[in-house]
Amino acid sequence: MTREQHLSGSNEQNAAGMGDLTQEQLRACIRTRTLGQQLVCLEQTDSTNLRADELAKKGAAHGMLVTADMQSAGRGRRGRLWQQEPGTMIAMSLILRPTLPPDAAAMLTLVAAHSTALAIEKVTGVSAYIKWPNDIVLGGKKAVGILTEMCLEGGRIGHIILGIGINVGTGHFPAELADTATSLYLETGKRFRRCELAAEVLWQLEQEYEQFLTKGDLSAIRDDYNAHLVSRGKEVRILDPAGEYTAISGGITETGELMVEREDGRMERVYAGEVSVRGLYGYV
Ligand code: BTN
Repeated sequence: MTREQHLSGSNEQNAAGMGDLTQEQLRACIRTRTLGQQLVCLEQTDSTNLRADELAKKGAAHGMLVTADMQSAGRGRRGRLWQQEPGTMIAMSLILRPTLPPDAAAMLTLVAAHSTALAIEKVTGVSAYIKWPNDIVLGGKKAVGILTEMCLEGGRIGHIILGIGINVGTGHFPAELADTATSLYLETGKRFRRCELAAEVLWQLEQEYEQFLTKGDLSAIRDDYNAHLVSRGKEVRILDPAGEYTAISGGITETGELMVEREDGRMERVYAGEVSVRGLYGYV
């Protein structure tokens, strides 16, 4: 058996190893029209974002979904590693081919965060919050990370890989993450089927993706995104390379920037990718 395989759920040895995230199980839960119509379900890989990118470069269609039961080198934002124990998280990467100008692509990450938060609320019944722009927070700790990677072709978007990592059944985190990371299991004491949750994410995302393309901005989700914003109305630290400052967090604009009010009353528009936002006393 090779270390990485393109599996069909009919391979019993591998299906057993992949618990509740086999191709058959996913297929049975998926009810979308475009996203996840083609599935590549891997037992183990380095990173689903890398595999999806490779497939996209070979011409894979819009909506193809790559999942893995285990990633050995999951990619996080700012070059960080995204760690996981086998069988405990959803690692999913979607190939998207939107007709959008490249500078609109950053908004997709916020769409994905909002869709994933709603999917988690629906499946688990617990309140999920968004730490701008795209972390999902349960009980004050991060349960989901999203990494969007864009491939340009001649100045246009060739494809986008939308990678979502959800800590579903993780029972404990290494000491360095224990204060800031959580899982659906740790927050609820319950076990959730990963195939069901992944399919619910696709369902929510498909609706919101279509609205986003139609409007060209976040106006369809802005109010509800803001209602899920963990920092709204709270004091935050803005880690701006040009100089850090403390401010009160407002909501997002229709193009996804965060509005904040500085201590002297000046309003600032904060751009994701340029700055980070931290809680004054911890992660949120
Ligand atoms: C973050 O740093 O918060 C983003 C983490 C994104 C992790 C997901 S897991 C599925 C997909 N594949 C990757 O290699 N990364 C993303």
